[in-house]
Formats: sequence, structure tokens, C-alpha cells
Amino acid sequence: MNIPDLTGRTAVVTGANSGIGLPTALELALRGAHVFVACRSPERGNAAVAQIRSRASSTRVEYVPLDLADLSSVRDLAKSLVDRLDRIDLLVNNAGVGMISRQVTTDGFEKQFGTNHLGHFALTGLLLPLLLAGPGARVVTVSSDNHAEGEIDFDDLQAERKYGRNSSYARSKLANLLFTLELQRRADGAGVDLLSLACDPGTTATNIGALPRVMSLMMRLFLQSADKGAIPSLFAATSPEARGGEFYGPGPKRMTPSPKALDEAVATRLWDVSENLTGVRFAALDHFAP
Ligand SMILES: NC(=O)c1ccc[n+]([C@@H]2O[C@H](COP(=O)([O-])OP(=O)(O)OC[C@H]3O[C@@H](n4cnc5c(N)ncnc54)[C@H](OP(=O)(O)O)[C@@H]3O)[C@@H](O)[C@H]2O)c1
Repeated sequence: MNIPDLTGRTAVVTGANSGIGLPTALELALRGAHVFVACRSPERGNAAVAQIRSRASSTRVEYVPLDLADLSSVRDLAKSLVDRLDRIDLLVNNAGVGMISRQVTTDGFEKQFGTNHLGHFALTGLLLPLLLAGPGARVVTVSSDNHAEGEIDFDDLQAERKYGRNSSYARSKLANLLFTLELQRRADGAGVDLLSLACDPGTTATNIGALPRVMSLMMRLFLQSADKGAIPSLFAATSPEARGGEFYGPGPKRMTPSPKALDEAVATRLWDVSENLTGVRFAALDHFAP
């Protein structure tokens, strides 16, 4: 796909050390963006930076520490970026864990919901002042077509009573999409110039899912590459044709979110619950709210 020139733009990509996040960060850097590779391992993060620099030596790309399963780490990263930058043009909420046994984050949240949704919810809220500092910033959140199988059970949000590896993953991806659409509605309602978009990479051979090595090697033979999986993210992040409040999948093509993702009452409730759980409020949107 044709990616416009991004010179002078600043982008943050979570989970950019592997899978779909790495080619996403690479392509943004190749087009001139200053890219922050936000991930939890300094070794893997710096290796990704070195890999990107080996393809584009003049690019501004740097590793920044971020563990989405620990809200203090999310706060630390946001503070360091707020201290350093005047604005952020692009936030790609890409990182994710999938299909794991039940675990909890440092703050006690079920790990797939806590990492994939709550961590990104908090990061976006804390970076909102930087995202609103320039015109037309974009927040791209990587969901999945699998969201259609998710259920938001507000009586068991941390899946303490009922946990399934797949159902919890699907729920986190549904939360990603509900968040994306609600963020766009709130930005529109507040009259601010912000685009919130979601994407589905399509089934892609990456590290997600913690498969045994042999199976993972087999998957690589049959599934699309991470480079291809990054196309919907890159389209949502950079194309002049991409629209806020839309969901883009392989092709890249517009996808129709499931009716569950379009339920505004659930989206509002999830937003309130997410604010309470993370302690992060999107105050800039409240301030502008009619
Ligand atoms: N692959 C697919 O078929 C597929 C389909 C639909 C949607 N997706 C979505 O695509 C996104 C990217 O996943 P992927 O397929 O590229 O998988 P991946 O190769 O496993 O990459 C996931 C990335 O997220 C990072 N991550 C995990 N937990 C984190 C945490 N607590 N804090 C910060 N970073 C963390 C990982 O870091 P480490 O290297 O340190 O683990 C890694 O960089 C995910 O949101 C996933 O749900 C993937």
C-alpha cells in the first residue's frame, strides 16, 4: 500500500518488537515518522530498534519501556512522553496477549482484558493531551474479527467465575472495538479533531497464542506474514481514505463490526468501568463536552 510521507510526525506503537507491531513501526519509520517502540522487554525492544535502523539508518526510532499489564508502567511512559514531546500524531494500540491460562496483571485484572483493553485505555487517556495538541491525530486500536465471539459480562469482568482462554481473548478484542467507537463518539461530541479507528490484521503467523514451537512453525507455512498483517493497521494509521469510527480488515477493506460492538449502552458502561478501574479519566474530552 501507498503510505504518505510522515516526516515531522510522531508515532507510538505498542508491542512493536514482534509480530504485526514490528512491520507497522518499520513502515512508519521508513516514511519518516519519529517512532517510539513501546514494549516491555528492553532487549527485545532495542533489538527491534536495531532492526528498523538497519533498514533506515537516518530514521528517528527509539525504544521506550511499557508494560501494559502494570498501570504504574503505563503512567511512567505517558509521563516521560508528556515531559518530552509537544504532540503525538499517531498512537497504535497494537500489543496483545492471547489465549493464555488465567493470570492477573500487577493491578489484579484478568490479564487478557487488563493488557489488551485496560492498559491501552489508560495509555490513550494519559496521552490524550498530546494527541489533541495537533490536528487530526489518530488512535488505531488493533482488534480482531474474533471480537464477535466476545461477551462483556459486567458481573464477572475479571472472569473470576468463568474463564476461557478464547472467550477472554474475544472479550478483550470486543472491548478494543467498543472503546474505539466510543472514543470517536466522544471526540466528535467534544468537537475535537481526533480520529479513532480499529483494525483486524487477519489471521497472521506471529507469536500470539503461545503455541508449541512445531505448531508455530507449521502456522508460518500456511498463514499470512506479519508484513501482510500490518497492512490494515498501516491503512488505518496513515491513509487519507481511512475514516474515524471505522474498522478496517485485510485488503485493506472496511469491515462491519458485530452488533455487540455497536451497542452504545455497553460502550458507555465499559468506558465508565474502565475509568474507575484504571483511575484514568479522559478529562480533555469532558472539558470540551457540550
Ligand atoms: N496474529 C493474529 O492472527 C491476530 C489476529 C487478530 C488480531 N491480532 C492482534 O494483533 C496484535 C498484535 O499481535 P501479534 O499477532 O503481532 O502477536 P505477537 O507477535 O505476540 O505480538 C504481541 C506484542 O504485544 C506485546 N505485549 C504482550 N504483552 C504486553 C504487555 N504486558 N506490555 C507491553 N507489550 C506487551 C508483545 O511483547 P513480548 O514480545 O514482550 O511478548 C509483542 O510485542 C494483538 O493486539 C492481537 O490481538 C492478531
